[in-house]
Amino acid sequence: MKLKKIFMAAAVAATALTACQSKSSSGDAEMDRYIDDLMGQMTLHEKIGQLNLPVTGDIVTGQAKSSNIAEKIKAGEVGGLFNLKGVEKIREVQRVAVEESRLHIPLIFGMDVIHGYETVFPIPLALSCSWDMEAIEKSAQIAAREASADGICWTFSPMVDICRDPRWGRQSEGSGEDPFLGSAIARAMVKGYQGENLQDSATIMACVKHFALYGAPEAGRDYNTVDMSRVSMFNGYFAPYKAAVEAGAGSVMSSFNVVDGIPATGNKWLMTDVLRDMWGFNGFVVTDYTAILEMIDHGMGDLQQVSALSLKAGTDMDMVADGFVGTLEKSLEEGKVTEEDINKACRRILEAKYKLGLFADPYKYCNVERPKKEVFSAENRAIAREIAAETFVLLKNEDNLLPLQRKGRIALIGPLADTKANMPGTWSVAAVSDRYKSLLEGMKDAVAGKAEVLYAKGSNLCYDATLEANATMFGREMRDPRSAEALRAEALRVAQRADVIVFAGGESSEFSGECSSRSNLDLPDAQLDLLKALKKTGKPIVMLNFAGRATVMNWENENLPAILQVWFGGSEAADAICDVLFGDKVPSGKLTASFPKAVGQLPLYYNHLNTGRPAEKWFSKFRSNYLDVDNDPLFPFGYGLSYTTFTYGDLTLDATSMTESGKITATVKVTNNGNYDGTEVVQLYIRDMVGSISRPVKELKGFERVSLKKGESRDVTFEITADLLKFYNSNIDYVCEPGEFQVMVGGDSRNVQTAGFTLE
Ligand code: BGC
Repeated sequence: MKLKKIFMAAAVAATALTACQSKSSSGDAEMDRYIDDLMGQMTLHEKIGQLNLPVTGDIVTGQAKSSNIAEKIKAGEVGGLFNLKGVEKIREVQRVAVEESRLHIPLIFGMDVIHGYETVFPIPLALSCSWDMEAIEKSAQIAAREASADGICWTFSPMVDICRDPRWGRQSEGSGEDPFLGSAIARAMVKGYQGENLQDSATIMACVKHFALYGAPEAGRDYNTVDMSRVSMFNGYFAPYKAAVEAGAGSVMSSFNVVDGIPATGNKWLMTDVLRDMWGFNGFVVTDYTAILEMIDHGMGDLQQVSALSLKAGTDMDMVADGFVGTLEKSLEEGKVTEEDINKACRRILEAKYKLGLFADPYKYCNVERPKKEVFSAENRAIAREIAAETFVLLKNEDNLLPLQRKGRIALIGPLADTKANMPGTWSVAAVSDRYKSLLEGMKDAVAGKAEVLYAKGSNLCYDATLEANATMFGREMRDPRSAEALRAEALRVAQRADVIVFAGGESSEFSGECSSRSNLDLPDAQLDLLKALKKTGKPIVMLNFAGRATVMNWENENLPAILQVWFGGSEAADAICDVLFGDKVPSGKLTASFPKAVGQLPLYYNHLNTGRPAEKWFSKFRSNYLDVDNDPLFPFGYGLSYTTFTYGDLTLDATSMTESGKITATVKVTNNGNYDGTEVVQLYIRDMVGSISRPVKELKGFERVSLKKGESRDVTFEITADLLKFYNSNIDYVCEPGEFQVMVGGDSRNVQTAGFTLE
């Protein structure tokens, strides 16, 4: 309270406004006045300081006072810090800022709260497979509650980069390949984090990333060049960023890659013309980690030049590069940037702090009593468990092998069976994995007193120890020193004694995520050899595929009776997997990324354009196909089985034509005619048959999760309006064009029923 007064007094005591301080009319007169007053007192040095987001590492309280960072904070050279964990530490650093800096300006504390905080939800790719917007919003809301309780007020999420190439390891962090679904998820996440009002201390500011096109690097290699037409950007990739901005995301992170030849961070067309002028974004733009510095390697000039270019492009905050603090004063003297450029960026950052309520109370997120009650609570964990079970995708279930009964002996085998650290998945900065259950522990609990669980690791992740070390960083090592033969022999002994084998394998946590691109998407060699050996025992095998991306599973699909895609399910993954394995929950997840048959098919996505020589099923000379594989994915977008079965009646439209202001209703009867109550994700796709530019063979335009008791039927309807028919033409006008449209409805993107109508 006392501090607040000191600060308010200092700010309000402003006498005169300095020249050029970017007067703003944000629509909030009180905020404008407040920031005008404050900026009136700031030196140029302090204004540039607000644009600085240096690396902190894990500053501990004592060090903060004496470290270099603390000196910079006192000198007003820091706008915020990130990935510092713990409310006490954050409170102490905030104290340095508001008590020991000249103008007492509070810091903003960010973190990569990507899929939960200490209660970890499934990785975002998995979450997207739930197609459950309420659940996704809830996961973000809980993440915000926990993070805000622990001192964080800003998250570097949602990551909404569309990805059509699973070689890229960060497919794990996004929502797959579809911009319509991706947009719905982007909105749900922003709403979950920010709530109705950022003044609420249980909400945090979102940062939509990585703007833009980061998910489309050539060859699937992280940070690599992106090259695409504007029509593709707008139709295939931009929608989720736009949706997040329209949902009110307070900040945007620039991506590392080039967009139309210019790195995103220094790309004025992207950061100003599109983001602010076209989409009306009024928050601030932060760079990705050292992105300004990296522009030197992109060949854009020295640090001074690239920093000036970034500021002029519309980038406001420099993460870690020291480009703004290091060079902007000089650039101003030399006329390379104007004071107005600096003021604009400074104002945007101060506005964010104002909107978060940090000026009213710099310790708003520093209530040291909150974490005990609000972080990793039983309630949050129960919700995470429920949600995780919704994200698993049943890829195969021959002869209804699943669900398993709780009886007899179950052999749990595989390198992912007994690891806690690999449960949460990539980018779980706040995870405390020794508090999470391994699958082995979860399974023992799930069948206690009813069945026996036998365990053998069976193999390492892969034969190559170096590859395994690179894929198990950050305290997630799991290599067993025993030889491959010894591990396999033990597994075969265990398997012989069991009635059924549950194989837990696939990728480790860090086999996907940042800088985890792969050129081969098969199950790693040691595991595939193990599975082949297990298969020879003749015992039924259920494969649990852990992965942060779509992988190639031809042998598995041909040879194993049951495959459940479990991704990385978060802190409650072990229990959630058992809920589904033993039938307490019925799987309902549907893929949001196509699973290829071969890496050579990539990029592979369902909403592609047709060619002039469309492929037939098998190879045919002079068609657009391969000699050695067909064009289809192994498992298509939207695909996923249940323990029950759903049948679709005929698709009907209530009219065969509509005008631009009209609508058509599509109806299909969906019946659960299996033996379990279950949930089906009914999907609507549309194809524009003739356009001024070539249009995709189908595009998702609606979906509904429908829960049906066994034997129950329901009419599912979709309303088709002109909005769903619009696209960006070659002038980048958002239009719909009269003509024929095909409507498709089904349980995945391949198995659909079709009807048609005309837009007049
Ligand atoms: C990643 C971002 C992340 C940032 C801060 C970068 O390496 O690309 O997604 O938000 O680090 O941790």
